[in-house]
Amino acid sequence: MNKSRQKTLAANQLTEFYHNDFVVDQFRDFKACFTEANKPVTGVIIDIGGGVGYFAGAVKDNLGYNIRVIDMDPLSVEICNKKGIDAAIGDCTTLRPKDDETVACFNLILHHLVADSEQATKTLQAKTLLNWFGNSRRIFVNEYIYESYIPNFSGWLIYKITSSGVLSAIGKFISRLIPSFRANTFGTGVRFRSHNEWQLIFTDEGFHVTKSIVGIDEKVDFPLRMLLIKSIRRDSFLLESTV
Ligand SMILES: C[S@@+](CC[C@H](N)C(=O)[O-])C[C@H]1O[C@@H](n2cnc3c(N)ncnc32)[C@H](O)[C@@H]1O
Repeated sequence: MNKSRQKTLAANQLTEFYHNDFVVDQFRDFKACFTEANKPVTGVIIDIGGGVGYFAGAVKDNLGYNIRVIDMDPLSVEICNKKGIDAAIGDCTTLRPKDDETVACFNLILHHLVADSEQATKTLQAKTLLNWFGNSRRIFVNEYIYESYIPNFSGWLIYKITSSGVLSAIGKFISRLIPSFRANTFGTGVRFRSHNEWQLIFTDEGFHVTKSIVGIDEKVDFPLRMLLIKSIRRDSFLLESTV
């Protein structure tokens, strides 16, 4: 078995993502990176792991840009198409970009690109970014940020718990008592990181982080503090080939 292949969520785990809670922030940050920064977009924007199309819809309707979703969840793609959003089923870790894409967006998907080990996960995330950088030379990332009392510890711990069968079973049980331990990634794995960890992955791959936008801290419930989480937020990054 290929250790660097993605461990994917089941269809019933994905339906938890069919909401528009984060689109306002994602769209605001995208606008700040492109239109407000006077970096207009021509060609096609590819929204990778675009889910049911809230972000794509906001970009299309408010900025008039040409945007296409790819997602590995057939139901998400069907919902996009019903809304009139160009969308196709695809696995972003293996699919090759087309010729017309000029910006690739990764909204809250990188932390789902998990493989069989910590190193394989990092490689999968980096390789996928590089693959989509090919044509576009510009990547917009919106990603969960977990800062911890011991630097970089909480994201690693959550990955260890959610990717282990035994620990996930215990986690699932606890999540019945403590709802803040959200259960939908147990057994598959999820890899949250701190701002600096993501930044390091980007720069190690040769990207220039030409803009980063720090999100607002979310409430961290007491049980989550037991995982040494100091803060949780969503940050955005613009990756380019030149400064
Ligand atoms: C947390 S949801 C984010 C949805 C949306 N981008 C948002 O920000 O609300 C992650 C999405 O990534 C998709 N996904 C996960 N792995 C993928 C892969 N390898 N290729 C394409 N889509 C993937 C899932 O199906 C899901 O729709």
